[in-house]
Amino acid sequence: MSAPADPDAYFKQQAGEYAASLVQSGMVVGLGTGSTAIFAIREIAARLLAGDLKTIVAIATSRASEAAARALGIPMLTDDIPREIDITIDGADEVDPAMNLIKGGGGALLREKIVAQACRREVIVVDAGKLSPRLGTHWPLPVEVLEFGWRSQARFLESLGAAVTPRLGKGGFFRTDQGNIILDSQFGPINTPLELAEKLEARAGLVGHGLFIGIASDLVVAGNDGIRHLRRDFI
Ligand code: A5P
Repeated sequence: MSAPADPDAYFKQQAGEYAASLVQSGMVVGLGTGSTAIFAIREIAARLLAGDLKTIVAIATSRASEAAARALGIPMLTDDIPREIDITIDGADEVDPAMNLIKGGGGALLREKIVAQACRREVIVVDAGKLSPRLGTHWPLPVEVLEFGWRSQARFLESLGAAVTPRLGKGGFFRTDQGNIILDSQFGPINTPLELAEKLEARAGLVGHGLFIGIASDLVVAGNDGIRHLRRDFI
């Protein structure tokens, strides 16, 4: 077979579609956000259409994924999450060897974490380029803050060692689905992610951060060597 024109997109598609095969009829399914998760969403819709999957209901981790899922005909739950979620399929920006993650490149980190913490099985889908020896090596940590007092949060993050850049969107700050802003915080390789997460969670005005520690149950990685499916029980 000839090499794909865009290997990253091809690997994202492979990972997303593989993970969609883990969804079973009757499940409540969390739908992730981003260019990898969308392949899972499309595959779930295709399986529904083919009759291979029945009576699932989904909850999206962002308005963008919700709109995509609805347009594809996936039945959706209300966003107060009235039922426990069986499986969520979501992407990540960076994954360390312990299956800890940095997420939030698309700005959906808070809803992604709410859905992840409400589900039994969090399946992370990535291309092999997302693997990293230590979180923060390749990607800044997205931190969601209220606009009120944001410069104070920026100084706080700097006091913890980060170089902080407010994320920009059309005509000003990028806005999350909650209307908050994101401070992209370049820490460099993070030695103690759990300790950092605890410091961030203790700060008023800081409403979310992209460190997902001990949350992923499965990791699906697609790359030149094919598709690997790792489960937390085995790491
Ligand atoms: C969205 O906020 C993110 O957490 C995404 O899941 C993450 O950025 C991965 O996105 P891609 O699959 O587009 O790389």
